[in-house]
Amino acid sequence: MIRGKTYTPYHITALMAPKDNLRLATPADIRRMGLVMSAGFGSTLEAAWLQPYLRTLPQDSLLTSQEYVDRCMGSKGFVTVVIEDTYEPPEVQAMAEIVPDDEAREHSMYEEKVVAGMATWKFMSGSPRIGQFNDELHVSDLETLSPSRDEHKDHTRRFHSKNRDLRKKYFHGSNWFELHTLVVHPAYWRRGHGRRLLEWGIQLACIDQIELCICAADTGLKLYQASGCELLESWQLEGDEVSPKGIAGHIMRYRPQKESSNTEKDESQAEVVALSEQLAEADLGGEQNTFPKRKA
Ligand SMILES: CC(C)(COP(=O)(O)OP(=O)(O)OC[C@H]1O[C@@H](n2cnc3c(N)ncnc32)[C@H](O)[C@@H]1OP(=O)(O)O)[C@@H](O)C(=O)NCCC(=O)NCCS
Repeated sequence: MIRGKTYTPYHITALMAPKDNLRLATPADIRRMGLVMSAGFGSTLEAAWLQPYLRTLPQDSLLTSQEYVDRCMGSKGFVTVVIEDTYEPPEVQAMAEIVPDDEAREHSMYEEKVVAGMATWKFMSGSPRIGQFNDELHVSDLETLSPSRDEHKDHTRRFHSKNRDLRKKYFHGSNWFELHTLVVHPAYWRRGHGRRLLEWGIQLACIDQIELCICAADTGLKLYQASGCELLESWQLEGDEVSPKGIAGHIMRYRPQKESSNTEKDESQAEVVALSEQLAEADLGGEQNTFPKRKA
């Protein structure tokens, strides 16, 4: 179903310990990542606000999620990282209302490792990281586009407008990058996957000595704060008859400490930086991505 070449991991392996279950996503992960996103966000307040008709139209939500990851994989401005875990059969039953039956059952064929969580990161226009993580852009071969009938258009517009305004207020130029999406399938929550995925971006922020921007939902707040992210401002949209609870969000920042001098970590980071510089010299692809809507 998915055309396109797989990613070359380049220097990214330097950020992933050999025993880690973390790796760069490949086009072969797109369907599974779509399922993880649908399942992970499905029961959140964010979904109740953005996709209030999700439970009657789970197939639309799944297609939207697949499209999102598909586009991330086709953009030089994004990097997508996944974490794997041993397959838990109860994940299928637990997600019965949120994920279409066929899709959920298909994943029950897996016996060993499955993608349990994912994070996408977006680099700003002008960032030397653009184009470093994917040597070949993924060409989409999704068969169907989502009609997005689960989505509430006005809620979506207001939600993204809040986040956009706050990003503009606190982040400038190209000396920052953004956690665009962080999600773990609920069957694999509280195992440290969310934290590990986040740490990957925090490590990158430290290596590059640039700030990390997060437009956070309530569900992620504790995790981000526990990992050293600073809360800059919170916002709220009042509920209505469709989504009575409304929605809240938070703009957050991770600011790297100045590097210390003589640890092993510094040495490995220096290697990564040197390699990045070589890569940046070789190819400074300048694509700026504009499409995806999902925020951390
Ligand atoms: C938020 C999310 C990514 C956390 O993933 P996770 O793999 O369960 O997180 P971890 O196991 O690494 O937890 C790390 C820490 O986060 C906090 N945390 C995670 N889930 C929590 C919960 N349900 N309630 C309170 N704290 C929680 C805790 O501090 C936890 O540390 P602890 O287990 O030592 O107490 C996951 O719940 C998720 O995908 N939610 C839906 C999507 C979402 O809201 N994404 C974030 C949007 S900003």
